[in-house]
Amino acid sequence: MYTENDVQSVMLTTEQLAERVNALAEQISEDYKGEYPLFIAVLKGSFVFYSDLLRALSLPVQVDFMSVSSYGERAASSGRVKIMKDADADVRGRHVVVVEDIIDTGNTLYALKNLLLHRGAKSVKICALLDKASRRAADISADYVGFEIEDEFVIGYGLDYAERYRNLPFVGILKRSVYEK
Ligand code: PRP
Repeated sequence: MYTENDVQSVMLTTEQLAERVNALAEQISEDYKGEYPLFIAVLKGSFVFYSDLLRALSLPVQVDFMSVSSYGERAASSGRVKIMKDADADVRGRHVVVVEDIIDTGNTLYALKNLLLHRGAKSVKICALLDKASRRAADISADYVGFEIEDEFVIGYGLDYAERYRNLPFVGILKRSVYEK
């Protein structure tokens, strides 16, 4: 299997991920008790986390999907984000939870959160599986974080390198030799 050659080490096992995702779901279910929030997955990386998280919630939720790319630092200062696929739902008056696989510089989520608030969302919270806090450039933090991690090249559980490895059932550190070829 290609993984044995390409993964330097396993950072988060399937079991660790499941346990943390279930704990996040429990906390979110408590915080949104009695509400019908709109959960927006930011594609593509969040698809695995999103589906596990949502199935562990004890809440009625509406699901939706966006695909965005930030303009880098320009996004953080301008609050602009390039939308490749927009959500179908009207966010006006809604409690929105944005689900991401990872926050790195924070530029993407900074711009996306501002966009959703500008569109009239009642509240926007961010749930990120992984947080590379040391890399933060934009003034934003997630409301729910699975794991704070070091600045490593991580793959699996939705995260890719050149569109590969998203289907690994764990989060691993990619071998340098793979991306320095
Ligand atoms: C990743 C991740 C976030 C963004 C975080 O997406 O899913 O959307 O980068 O980076 P930032 O905090 O520096 O803005 P990516 O562009 O790799 O797309 P993908 O989810 O389709 O893999």
